[in-house]
Amino acid sequence: MEALLSARNISKYYDLGDERITALENINLDVYPGEFVAIVGKSGSGKSTLMHILGLLDSPSAGQVILNGIDVTKYKEKELAQMRNKEIGFVFQFFNLLPRTTTLDNVMLPLKYSTTPRSEWKKRATDMLIKVGLANRLHNKSNELSGGQKQRVAIARALVNEPSIVFADEPTGNLDSKTGDEIVRLFNELNAQGKTIILVTHDDDLAKVAKRQIIIKDGQIIS
Ligand SMILES: Nc1ncnc2c1ncn2[C@@H]1O[C@H](COP(=O)(O)OP(=O)(O)O)[C@@H](O)[C@H]1O
Ligand SMILES: [Mg+2]
Repeated sequence: MEALLSARNISKYYDLGDERITALENINLDVYPGEFVAIVGKSGSGKSTLMHILGLLDSPSAGQVILNGIDVTKYKEKELAQMRNKEIGFVFQFFNLLPRTTTLDNVMLPLKYSTTPRSEWKKRATDMLIKVGLANRLHNKSNELSGGQKQRVAIARALVNEPSIVFADEPTGNLDSKTGDEIVRLFNELNAQGKTIILVTHDDDLAKVAKRQIIIKDGQIIS
């Protein structure tokens, strides 16, 4: 089977005056369709930098990112944005929802930048919100929701364009443990339905919910 997403010798440097910070060094990894992978490591180990590069939000200093067989490292920002909108969904620790905007409008947002006809936006977003268990909150503003509900909205938004990969960066980091467990269960269900998920976390216990753990330390994969 061909990898869905590959990193080939990825490095990332930040030059601050005379000092060079190496955030990532020679990262190689392959993620296959339908996998549930955790990228786990301590704070400052390079997890978010790696996620941003794999998710086409940032470019590497060296190396290639291959998505669906395409070397996207050569892409310009406009092509990257299109590719990201179509193929990748993101879930963040602090939800990143528009606050005074309804659940439905938050989830419809990625559709507005896609090729989906306008006439389908509402139905697509509604179906996705039903799927994450929020059928009764479609018209609430996101600042009227609990943390767990906000994260469900964020997950619906990440899924609405039917991306090939969903990235989640510390998705339970701002939730109590019971609510966090419910979000983990939702990711498990999505993976069981075939969605490829890459979970980024510093928490070894959380990482265990994934079927494969990639351990990162000081910008390098150590196992
Ligand atoms: N924009 C930046 N400028 C300089 N250094 C950065 C920048 N972003 C990240 N770093 C450094 O790269 C390393 C990895 O950071 P990060 O990927 O955020 O780690 P993690 O998500 O594992 O906590 C850290 O040493 C961090 O300070
Ligand atoms: Mg981080």
